[in-house]
Amino acid sequence: MTQNKILPKASISPYIPLHYQHFAADVFFEEQAEIYPLWSGEGNLSYFILNPQSKEVVLIDPDLEILGSYLLTLDQHKLRLVAVMDTHTHAEHATAAPTLSQLLQVPYLMHHQAPSRFVTDRVKDGEQRVLAGINFQFLHTPGHTVDMTTIRLGKRLFTGDSLFNKSCGRADLPGGDPAQQYQSIHQLAQFPGDYTIHPGHDYNNHLSSPLSRVSQHNHRLQISSQAEFVAFMTAHYAQEEKPDQLEYYVAFNAQ
Ligand SMILES: [Fe+2]
Repeated sequence: MTQNKILPKASISPYIPLHYQHFAADVFFEEQAEIYPLWSGEGNLSYFILNPQSKEVVLIDPDLEILGSYLLTLDQHKLRLVAVMDTHTHAEHATAAPTLSQLLQVPYLMHHQAPSRFVTDRVKDGEQRVLAGINFQFLHTPGHTVDMTTIRLGKRLFTGDSLFNKSCGRADLPGGDPAQQYQSIHQLAQFPGDYTIHPGHDYNNHLSSPLSRVSQHNHRLQISSQAEFVAFMTAHYAQEEKPDQLEYYVAFNAQ
C-alpha cells in the first residue's frame, strides 16, 4: 500500500496538521463542509467531514486500522465528533464506527437493513439528517450489499462500493446481487454531470471524479443491458480472489 505514505501537499484548513500520514493530499469543499479523505488498508477510503465554524466532525466509513488518526486529529484540534456512518457492511476491513460511537457517545447511522446491533439511527432510502450543521441524504443503492447506501452532501456522492471512479463494487460477496448493482450504478449516473463521486475504494490513487467523466469513462456503465452486466460480473469475479479475511470482517462488522 503506497497511498497511505503520501503526505498532504497543503494544509488548507488550520485544523488539520500536515503530518498525519493517512490523510490524502486533497481537501474538498461543499457547502459549509471541508471533506478530508483518508487512505487505509489496500485502497480503502474513509472521509473526515469537518464543519470549520462549529468544529464538528462526521466520519463516513471509518476504518478501525486507523482509529488513532481520527482520535488524534479530533483531540489535537479540539474538534468534536458528532456522528459516524457506514455506507454498508464492509467485507475488506473492520469498521471503527461502533467503537467511536460507544467511546464518544455519538450516533451511528446506517441503512435500516444493516445487521450491526450498534447502529443507533437506521435510515431509509431518501431520508435526510442534519449533522454538524451539514445536510446528508441517504440513497439506497443495493447490489454490492443489501444495506449499501450512497450518502449525498450537496453535489457530492459518497458512493461506498456501488459506483467507483472507473469501475464498481463487486456483487459476488455476501448480500451481493449483480442485477441490483446494475440498477444502482445507473441510478447514480442519472445525477447531473457536475456532481462528484467519492468512492469507498480506489486501487489507482484516484480520490474522486466528476460524474460527467465517470459516465464517459467507466466501462461498467457502458455495458448496455442488465443481462450483459450480470454475465460480465459473474464471469469476471469467478476469477478474482475473495478479500483477505472476508468471513472475519463480515462477522466483525455485523456484530
Ligand atoms: Fe464493500
